[in-house]
Order: sequence, then C-alpha cells, then structure tokens
Amino acid sequence: MYLRRIIVVVLVVMALSNLTVSLALAQDPDNGKVLWEEQIWQCSMCHGDMAQGLYGRPLSNSTATETEWIDQVRHPRRSMPTFSEAQVTDEQILDIRAYVTSLPAPADDFRPQDPGTSDNEGHNLFLQKRCVACHDPDVGPLNNFVQRGEEPTAAAVIAQLRTPKNNMPTYREDQVSDAEATLIADFLAEQYALQAAPATLPTSGADTPTSQTAWWLTLIGSLALALGLVVRILLRRRATSR
Ligand code: HEC
Ligand code: HEC
Repeated sequence: MYLRRIIVVVLVVMALSNLTVSLALAQDPDNGKVLWEEQIWQCSMCHGDMAQGLYGRPLSNSTATETEWIDQVRHPRRSMPTFSEAQVTDEQILDIRAYVTSLPAPADDFRPQDPGTSDNEGHNLFLQKRCVACHDPDVGPLNNFVQRGEEPTAAAVIAQLRTPKNNMPTYREDQVSDAEATLIADFLAEQYALQAAPATLPTSGADTPTSQTAWWLTLIGSLALALGLVVRILLRRRATSR
C-alpha cells in the first residue's frame, strides 16, 4: 500500500520533469535569436534578416506547427534545400521557430525576391534554383575552386549538392538533377577559365606578372634618387662659389 503510493509519486514527478525538460527545449527564443543571427545555416539568406521573407516566404507569420517546421527542414517543399539532423537539431529548429515567430509580421504585399535570369543556361539554373541566396550572383561559389587551383567539374558540383561539406544544405535529385548540376558546373568552369587565366598564364616576355605596387615603389625610388643628386650638385656649387 505504502510502497504503491511512493511509486505513483515518483512516476508523477518523473513525468512532470520530463515535460518541463521538453518544454524548455521547445521554447528558447533567446537561443533561437543567437542561432538565427549567427547565420550558421544561412536561413535568413532566404527568409530575410527579420524573417520578413526574401527568396523564401516570411517565417515571422508562420502558423505551421512544431512538427511541420521540423518536417519542412528535413523534407522541404519547393526550392528550400534539406538540412540534416547532423547540421541542425530538432531543438535548434524549435528555438529558431520560437524566436522568429515573435518578430513583427511581414508586409501585407510580400512578394518573393526575383532571383533574375541569364542567357547562359547553367547561370540561369544557378539563379532560378536560388543558389544565389548564398552565393555570388555573377560567379557563384568560384573562390573555393580558384583557391584550390581546381577546375569545377560536374562530379564536384554533384558531390557538393548530395553530400555537402562546410554546412551547405543538401539538394535532392528531384530539386537539382544531375543534368542540371552538370550545366551549373559548365557555367562555373567558364567563370573559372576567365578568372584563373590571367593569374596562371603570365603574358609573354614577363617572367612574373608585375604588380602595381612594385611599379609605384620603383617610380618613387627613382624620384628620390634624382632629388638626392640635384641637392648634392647644388650643395657642391655653393661650396665652390664660396
Ligand atoms: C535556399 C533558400 C532557403 C533556405 C536557405 C532556407 N529556406 Fe526555408 N523555405 C524556403 C522556401 C522556398 C520555402 C517554401 C515556401 C513555400 O512553401 O511557399 C521555405 C519554407 C520554410 C518553412 C515553412 C513555413 C510555413 O509556415 O509553411 C519553414 C519552417 C522554413 N522554411 C524554415 C527554414 C529554416 C529553419 C531554415 C534554416 C535552417 C531555412 N528555412 C532555410 C527557402 C529556404
Ligand atoms: C543556404 C546557403 C547555400 C545555398 C542556398 C547554396 N549553397 Fe553552395 N555553399 C554554401 C556553403 C556554406 C558552402 C561552403 C563555402 C565555403 O567552403 O567557403 C557552399 C559551397 C558550394 C560549392 C563549393 C564546393 C567546393 O568544392 O568547395 C559549390 C559547388 C556549391 N556550393 C554549389 C551550390 C549550388 C549549385 C547551389 C544551388 C543549387 C548552392 N550551392 C546553394 C551554402 C549554400
């Protein structure tokens, strides 16, 4: 009798503490603010700094439930890419939700940002797929390749879309197909050829490309030398005329 009462009390206490723990995890808008502003996942590049909407819809007025939020991040609709559990946890998603839904409602006349178009097929896909939300609109994610001295290939772009490194979200085959990724890679390779050429191929006659600074330093050096000579000649003249 006595023992049963104790067990019931213990069970109730355990259930209550479980509940408070999950409530605490579900609602930490302060942590959500920090996560949002740190831009770790660059959600705001598509949803706007104040979750007022940009390439993606506003989130400040989202009426989607907690489960729907987690679902959208794991199995997104439309042009939003996938963030894995290893990248952003359920708790972090709910903290972000708690923060952004506390922000002021967006403008009534919200229209998604137009990503623009291009005559170049690969460039056009790059814009239309909203890669432009996180990458340079004109040259895309070219710097990584230029720094590595590695020409962008279809294989490299497909690998980045399916198993991204450095916290980029995942694009599924039905979001960006291998054929589309190949066209994007062709565009990147064109940009690479344009950017990499002057640095790696010095013009004939010159061993190394001369820098602007070196040229200026030579000019200033020569002027200083000339001035020095003039001063010396003047001093000598004064000495002899005395
Ligand atoms: C590349 C752009 C992009 C990025 C980055 C992005 N989203 Fe989205 N998001 C979208 C688009 C597009 C939609 C779909 C809008 C629609 O259904 O009309 C969307 C929808 C959503 C929705 C559904 C809201 C609702 O009320 O239905 C949630 C929640 C969401 N995003 C959260 C996030 C979070 C959290 C992150 C960062 C971890 C993020 N998004 C990053 C583009 C993006
Ligand atoms: C939510 C932001 C985001 C979006 C949207 C995005 N990327 Fe990225 N991307 C990143 C980040 C972060 C990196 C890593 C940058 C770094 O290493 O400096 C990256 C790197 C890359 C790289 C370089 C990989 C390497 O080998 O170094 C490629 C290629 C790339 N992205 C292609 C794309 C394409 C194509 C799209 C659109 C279908 C896209 N990205 C959309 C965030 C994004």
